[in-house]
Amino acid sequence: MSSIDNKSLDYFGKLFNTDKATYHEFTKFYDDIINLRKDKIRNILEIGIYNGASLKMFHSYFNSHVNIHAIDINLSGDPHLNTVKCVYGDQNDTTSLKKSVELLGNKVYDIIIDDGSHISTHQRNSLQVMWQSIIPGGMYIIEDLHTNIKEWYPKSPHYYNESPTLYEDIIMYMSGKKCNLPVDIDSIDKCILLSRVKTTSMTCVLYKKNELQTMPKFISTRDTLTTCMDFIKNNKRGMYLRYGDGDYNIVRGIPDMLCRPTENFIKWMKISMSIREDAVMTCIPHHCKELNTIEEGICPGNHEYGSKQVLSYVKILNTYSPLPNKIYSNIALSYCSSHDPDYVIDMHNILKTKNIVFFGNKTYSDDFLKVLFGEKIHRIDTNQRDSYLDHDNVMNNFDMVYNNYLINYEYFVIIIAAGCGGRAYSAELYMKYNTCFFIFDYGSLLDYLAGQNTRDYMGIDPPKQEYILNKL
Ligand SMILES: C[S@@+](CC[C@H](N)C(=O)[O-])C[C@H]1O[C@@H](n2cnc3c(N)ncnc32)[C@H](O)[C@@H]1O
Repeated sequence: MSSIDNKSLDYFGKLFNTDKATYHEFTKFYDDIINLRKDKIRNILEIGIYNGASLKMFHSYFNSHVNIHAIDINLSGDPHLNTVKCVYGDQNDTTSLKKSVELLGNKVYDIIIDDGSHISTHQRNSLQVMWQSIIPGGMYIIEDLHTNIKEWYPKSPHYYNESPTLYEDIIMYMSGKKCNLPVDIDSIDKCILLSRVKTTSMTCVLYKKNELQTMPKFISTRDTLTTCMDFIKNNKRGMYLRYGDGDYNIVRGIPDMLCRPTENFIKWMKISMSIREDAVMTCIPHHCKELNTIEEGICPGNHEYGSKQVLSYVKILNTYSPLPNKIYSNIALSYCSSHDPDYVIDMHNILKTKNIVFFGNKTYSDDFLKVLFGEKIHRIDTNQRDSYLDHDNVMNNFDMVYNNYLINYEYFVIIIAAGCGGRAYSAELYMKYNTCFFIFDYGSLLDYLAGQNTRDYMGIDPPKQEYILNKL
């Protein structure tokens, strides 16, 4: 490591002559608050390029491992460095700012710095648009906030006729009073105003709450399957529910590719998302870098999600009930069938010792299902698409099979493979039949094993289909 690696932000600020260091002396503060998390920072964005001095400072300080993005109405100061990307954007124009964010790849930023026009209405607009692009736990910095303090700058054009100014709203927020900050104040962790008396300069740091740290425990693919198998091996009642994009559409009344919502469907989807018992294993797509839940081979297009997406799934779950303590992996079976096929085979060998109800897609042949789940199998057929539309028939069939056979068993496993409808059916079965069974949501892997490649990820990370089928 060369000695330059350890130089401070203030050092580089002075070297490249940005007024953040030379006049306002903000970089001295930033060294205290940024250095602590320097290694974790991946993306930063600054509004306001001028001659590119601060971008050169960040480029040298982060020593090339960070994406440095910048927005300005004048791009002449673009320093053309390999880590720096500059795009046009007017911070006073919401559409323009959103377009810039899109051009920069819709990233989430660890730090955003507004060092643009310093006009209060512009700062407010930028905060409103850009706050959602801050990563949980990240910082939004508004520089030169002193320019909208009327007492300090009575003739300043920076606040025009705005009242209260953004600065005044921040003061109200900090004193716990009602304010009009343009962000959800519950998402703010804390706010710090930093000021150099010598230059009457002020910068403001708004920290976003790190909701990810207070989230439930996220369980890995293998541990998810092991937990399911522990239930099944020990004949324990429970249910494994896997939610994905389609379910989140249905619960909000939005049609999905393979199914349409009905009133009853939405109702049972909501119920399924709200059952909180230790025996109910709720799963969402949670494999994400920020949560440290990426496993080998999980990448964009193959089950990797951004923290914003994971948070939005968590929030929807949370609207129906308090969050569970643990959230399991929704891709456990398909992932293990690519990366740990012997475990999937062991799992099937356990299933074959149980009484099985196959509840799902009627197009699978009996022979195929027997290879996977053994001879002791009953079927409840559902349509391949829109499995929930035939709800009354399907539930009547289940009731018949239940009264004729299942009622006599000490324990049985319901393998469900009925798309989004499966989640609503699972909840209804779980609530209506208080007997000892486990509902195992098998999912799209079944299509793949049956020779139908219905999902893109299967092209990227194919399950070991032949290997698994040959050994069963
Ligand atoms: C203070 S300078 C930036 C200095 C630079 N960040 C540094 O520390 O070296 C302000 C910059 O904001 C830009 N600016 C002014 N109005 C703007 C607006 N409405 N939207 C985006 N950028 C703007 C100006 O073009 C100028 O380059």
